[in-house]
Amino acid sequence: MVATIRLLIGLVGSLSLLYQASAEPLIQDQVRIMALGLLARPPLPKLNATNIDLPLPYSQIRFVGTQPEPPQLRPYCGYGAAYDWPHEGHGSYLATYIAQATVPIPDALPNTPLTQPLLQSWLRNPRVSRPDQPVDIILMHLGTNDIWQNRTKEDIVAAYSVLLNQMRAVNPRVRLLVAQILPMEPANCPGCAAKVQQLNQYISVWAQVVNSQVNPNVRPVRLVDQYTGSNATRYTTDGVHPNARGDEAIAQRWLGSVLEAVEAVVDERLLP
Ligand SMILES: *[C@@H]1O[C@H](CO)[C@@H](O)[C@H](O)[C@H]1NC(C)=O
Ligand SMILES: *[C@@H]1O[C@H](CO)[C@@H](O)[C@H](O)[C@H]1NC(C)=O
Ligand SMILES: *[C@@H]1O[C@H](CO)[C@@H](O)[C@H](O)[C@H]1NC(C)=O
Repeated sequence: MVATIRLLIGLVGSLSLLYQASAEPLIQDQVRIMALGLLARPPLPKLNATNIDLPLPYSQIRFVGTQPEPPQLRPYCGYGAAYDWPHEGHGSYLATYIAQATVPIPDALPNTPLTQPLLQSWLRNPRVSRPDQPVDIILMHLGTNDIWQNRTKEDIVAAYSVLLNQMRAVNPRVRLLVAQILPMEPANCPGCAAKVQQLNQYISVWAQVVNSQVNPNVRPVRLVDQYTGSNATRYTTDGVHPNARGDEAIAQRWLGSVLEAVEAVVDERLLP
């Protein structure tokens, strides 16, 4: 904990230097971060609460997503909110479902496609982005429901590949932070705990394979270990859904990689 806080203070320091170095606004547009997951657990709960010093210049980042739907929608997370939002958390969705789902394109022009992948409809939603201001960073925690419903690890990482291609088709420079998923021990699935471990190994190999495909136009996928140090007994309410302690642990594990990604986006924008 102390080490984390020190790390944060260090990062805040270096970011503030960067931000003091020239007149605001340093980057033209906010860095857009989408939390994509089935748990509807956007990943930085309590980022704005008193127990964590704000590590980011909040004016420069913006969480985006289509959830929750209006009229519940508020533009930013607020102090004491359960977690950052808006977001792209969809309870009970499977990665293998999202990868295959399509929806109609509103007002499609004649002789253009009538449908688009569901994920792209989220990424292109006017509440989420503009064509010239796409989503910069996506935090993805997906696969829990797939495991629960007996999808194979092979099918799940194949869905990840489809999803990554859909993301990059919208923004080639998008930075995907992919979670090795949380431990899961639901009462009705004795095999789930072991299957999650196998999936997480696959996710790690998947990220290496994806990143080994040299393409200067895209940004590497970053792996974020949400598994190690978590505990389905102590950090969930029912073996699956995180409790308050679980939420906080999730946030802490995302934080370093999110900061890195934000800095990378900012650096890229500052390039002449
Ligand atoms: C963070 O919390 C403070 C204090 O309540 C609030 O004024 C501010 O608007 C919040 N920031 C965001 C981005 O929600
Ligand atoms: C899960 O899938 C495996 C392999 O496809 C199969 O052998 C097994 O019977 C399935 N289990 C359940 C509970 O459906
Ligand atoms: C999780 O915590 C419980 C209760 O403290 C403990 O019995 C169990 O061994 C822990 N599980 C893991 C995987 O560490």
